[in-house]
Amino acid sequence: MTRYKAFCACEAHAELTPTRIERRNLRADDVAIAIDYCGICHSDAHTVNNDWGSTVYPCVPGHEIVGHVAAIGSDVTRYKVGDRVAVGCLVDSCQDCPSCDSGNEQNCTKGPTATYNGKDRHTGETTLGGYSEHIVVREKFVLRVPAALDMKYAGPLLCAGITVWTPLRRHGVGKGSKVAVVGLGGLGHMAVKLAVALGAEVTVITTSAGKADDARALGAADVLLSKEPKAMQGSANRFDFILDTIPTKHNVNPYLTLLGRNGVLVLVGALEPLEAIHGALLVLNNRSISGSLIGGLPATQELLDFCAEHNVLPTCEMVDVRDINSAFKRMQANDVKYRFVIDMASLRNVEID
Ligand SMILES: NC(=O)c1ccc[n+]([C@@H]2O[C@H](COP(=O)([O-])OP(=O)(O)OC[C@H]3O[C@@H](n4cnc5c(N)ncnc54)[C@H](OP(=O)(O)O)[C@@H]3O)[C@@H](O)[C@H]2O)c1
Ligand SMILES: [Zn+2]
Ligand SMILES: [Zn+2]
Repeated sequence: MTRYKAFCACEAHAELTPTRIERRNLRADDVAIAIDYCGICHSDAHTVNNDWGSTVYPCVPGHEIVGHVAAIGSDVTRYKVGDRVAVGCLVDSCQDCPSCDSGNEQNCTKGPTATYNGKDRHTGETTLGGYSEHIVVREKFVLRVPAALDMKYAGPLLCAGITVWTPLRRHGVGKGSKVAVVGLGGLGHMAVKLAVALGAEVTVITTSAGKADDARALGAADVLLSKEPKAMQGSANRFDFILDTIPTKHNVNPYLTLLGRNGVLVLVGALEPLEAIHGALLVLNNRSISGSLIGGLPATQELLDFCAEHNVLPTCEMVDVRDINSAFKRMQANDVKYRFVIDMASLRNVEID
């Protein structure tokens, strides 16, 4: 076991503080990664705050991990020391169920192992995430960062990117699709860029009037303010596909109204009871509401390759690890444009006993 620097939360709503954590000795199929960058996802804050009631402390968040291979286990064949690699929200799964067999490891019927706050399948220990200098991950769950992709910007693709990519692909979004993205945050801004790159016409639906210019600069053809009932009513039946990234309980009925015939609203943000859905809004226009959880390894590699080929990059604000608590506060106050990424080199400047 080797000990590495990391930032952890010791209890719900606590500030993140520097600590040292252990990383396991390499198993035969393990890859050790020196972490260069790690994105900050809203789920990191949900987990630190125990919003989902399942957090084990101390908690080291971080599942948008980019780095270099530092060492490999004896059976590793796909990577060598120095390779540019990435790790997303998953570090293991059963590898023996229909979901795993079809590359949908996120839906593993025995439960996937999350990158942090998950349970190691061998030891039962709680997994610790990417707000650290180093991580050890099973080879199968390590992704390749294409040479054309800037490492600095690759992190947010591993969660924000794949979470929106999966439903965009599943629902066949492409040329001619009329798409709305609700919430212009980490997930939302990636959804705009990716849907535009796939050829769709994209509208951003936002609570923040001040984001309208940004939305257009990101590629949106139109912007609707969700607080303006007239604008919302004027867009009734307009979209084929709506991606709803709102992170808390909310009323989806005003958004369902905007779907045309056979339209689909995919929910990715709120993991809690929603306000009651009006059945008529679903029945009368054959609309449906669906959900989506991150994405599997083949889709994540496909996304990394697509972004490299089409030069689709997240819009990031780089932060020093010592500013992590102010970044968390700003994210929760809806003040991030549009993803914080921690430069892990800054961890070298943190003194820990
Ligand atoms: N399904 C999955 O697999 C998955 C994966 C990753 C994350 N998530 C979840 O997805 C959600 C979004 O994550 P994120 O990292 O994109 O968060 P984020 O960067 O904070 O963005 C969320 C956006 O939603 C809008 N918003 C915030 N509070 C709102 C409210 N009360 N009512 C209406 N709109 C509101 C804001 O956009 P405007 O200013 O434009 O309104 C905000 O920028 C989180 O709950 C996260 O846990 C799910
Ligand atoms: Zn995430
Ligand atoms: Zn499985």
